[in-house]
Amino acid sequence: MRERSFFQSGVFGPPQHRRLGIFLAVAFCVPVIAPRCPALGQSASTESERIQYDDTTHTFRMDGAGVSYVFGVNQNGELQSLYWGKRLRPADPMPPARADGGTSAFDLPVNATPQEFAGWGGGLVVVPNLKITFPDGNRDLVLHYVSHTIQNNTLTITLKDISRDVAVDLTYKMDEETDILARSARIENRTQLPFTIEDVFAATWNLGPSNDYQLRYLTGRWAGEWNLQQTALHPGKVVLESRRGSTGDEVNPWFAIERSSQPDQDVGDVWFGALGWSGSWQINVETDWQNRVRITGGNTPFDFSYVLAPGQSLETPRFYGGYSNTGIGGASRLLHRFELDSIVPGAPHRRLRPVLYNSWEATGFDVNEAGQEALAEKAASIGVERFVMDDGWFGERKDDHAGLGDWYVNPQKFPQGLKPLIDKVHSLGMDFGLWVEPEMVNPNSDLYRKHPDWVLNFADRPRTEGRHQLVLNLARDDVRAYVYGFLDKLLSENDISFLKWDYNRNWSEPGWPAAPVEKQKEVYVKYVHNLYSILADLREKHQHVEIESCSGGGARVDLGILRLTDEAWPSDNTDPFDRLGIQDGFTYAYAPGVMMAWVTDSPSGMNGRSTSLVYRFLSSMQGGLGIGANLNKWTTEDFAAAKRLVGEYKAVRTTVQDGALYRLISPVGESEYSVTESVARDGHQAAIFAFLHSSQKGQPYPQLYLRGLDPNAVYSLHAHEGKLADGAVQRASGDYWMHHGVSISLRGDFQAAFFTLEREEAQ
Ligand code: DGJ
Repeated sequence: MRERSFFQSGVFGPPQHRRLGIFLAVAFCVPVIAPRCPALGQSASTESERIQYDDTTHTFRMDGAGVSYVFGVNQNGELQSLYWGKRLRPADPMPPARADGGTSAFDLPVNATPQEFAGWGGGLVVVPNLKITFPDGNRDLVLHYVSHTIQNNTLTITLKDISRDVAVDLTYKMDEETDILARSARIENRTQLPFTIEDVFAATWNLGPSNDYQLRYLTGRWAGEWNLQQTALHPGKVVLESRRGSTGDEVNPWFAIERSSQPDQDVGDVWFGALGWSGSWQINVETDWQNRVRITGGNTPFDFSYVLAPGQSLETPRFYGGYSNTGIGGASRLLHRFELDSIVPGAPHRRLRPVLYNSWEATGFDVNEAGQEALAEKAASIGVERFVMDDGWFGERKDDHAGLGDWYVNPQKFPQGLKPLIDKVHSLGMDFGLWVEPEMVNPNSDLYRKHPDWVLNFADRPRTEGRHQLVLNLARDDVRAYVYGFLDKLLSENDISFLKWDYNRNWSEPGWPAAPVEKQKEVYVKYVHNLYSILADLREKHQHVEIESCSGGGARVDLGILRLTDEAWPSDNTDPFDRLGIQDGFTYAYAPGVMMAWVTDSPSGMNGRSTSLVYRFLSSMQGGLGIGANLNKWTTEDFAAAKRLVGEYKAVRTTVQDGALYRLISPVGESEYSVTESVARDGHQAAIFAFLHSSQKGQPYPQLYLRGLDPNAVYSLHAHEGKLADGAVQRASGDYWMHHGVSISLRGDFQAAFFTLEREEAQ
């Protein structure tokens, strides 16, 4: 570990002497602690090469294979961003940080300077990272650099207020494979009295001036999640936020900023980021008059406060940020790789998603032993690997009016408990999964009758129900113990391999009357911490159990919950055409390898749209394949087709789930077409799914120019579903497929094709 302190080394004295330090700086970074990075193009760099500190210029530089991130300590002691983008050459100059003087009395240096982490004080008007009220009424907080350490590939910088013992540890860790930086902050009260944190954001990302920035973000609603939005950035502020108590589907805590007025899928500079937090959150995108951009994210300040007693600390969520110079497509491929290799449980050796069957759309709440066993037999016959019984198996659950909270097996539906069904599922060669919604309670339940005080509420105020249910206050220790206890018991007493963890409403009346008044707003943090700790403890004790994050569809998908869950449910909308757009949007932020997709009945319950079984399968084969149809209504031909398609899926599943996704044609706007290509990590295979909404005026299907192939390798083309155009070539080089392209023949309404390229090994 190396530790440096300006105060210790005497470079910075008391604030009034600090300006001296800058005159000692030299114009070019000369390493004094660690050797320089290897030349551009070398990918393997050691820890000491990846994080450098130059103590003549007081500059920190983090280098990955493709990215450099540079910041320094300026003459005022502030941490100032200097560069974030494509990897710089080792010898490239990086002038030391120098606070921007501003242009007038209305433009103070503290705002004009792009800071990494700013306290609210000294005239700050941009979004502060930290705002504190002290017990004496002082609200001025000015954070300056004190020291740093470099350990385990992690840079930790300690800041401190200029007079009060408020310490902030900032952590920076760059992922070795994708260069994605994880940043967070830990606030510690080293004073003698408690103080109140009013705003705390994990980090600020700064981008240099440009007139061409385009912001992308994802918006949605129930059954209509994951819509990609694009807006040009102009001076002002864009606020992306959830005040719902959880991640929410109105906006997802992800952003991407492209520097181009005409962004392209695979070309151009893109900066992107995502929060690892499953509670209320906020990301502010501020553009100043010089067209510089600050992106500040973390807990939303709305209705927030957190009291820190002397000696206590608060850790923020992680705010991840990355850079791609291969367009937004490259940005999402980096994020996918990062999620699968560094975030999800078991990473980088996570298990592939099995083909599952889920009972929800077939049986609704009307589950019982005989009915589920009959479905299980049919599911097994087409190659399903996991059978999941959804809602309805517990308490007095006949519909959504009752039962949540009472997690005993319903004795009328399952007179001998779950064991006979689970045994049956196992005997058919599948593992067994179960739906739960642990954080909720129906007022019509024994749990609520016994513990009406366990829900979020304000004393003597109405309790607003959503889907006839209330939210348990997981911040309470007794509620946490109850929820962990029943789940542990369920998993200990039954051979369950998978939980579908649902969460079907947002918060209302987020009160915590049993806590001291000044601590009640801590519910926003403590709830999420307890949720995470329950998931972590369950996973620790029941290591074979996998978990899906579901929230009435995709309302709780983020990099915090994905650390503890293996997959996510993007939407309750399973219409296979709508799904193309939903899945396209989802993959801007999250990997196909965590995205579950079910084949359900036709006509679709959502739109009344009729589609073929092949179309429905191919739409769902772009992620983790599931089947949610009522198999009791299937014909012999349906079973035969499904068995063939499940087999085809299994042959490309690794490529689809773990490979690199290229959006050849995005199903956005009025597009009649939608085409994705997934290329296996080792390049041996590409899987292409093509969809047509409806033929117009005899127009042929567009030529498909593939991407991500080895130009010199030879690949053979195999059409599995749908037809190639007459006379189409079936064996050619990567260059041919990428530049001449593939001609396929799709005509009619809701048509789909699936083909693969297999690389031939060189002799
Ligand atoms: C909402 C989920 O998204 C559905 O898949 C289903 O599990 C229902 N809840 C059950 O109530």
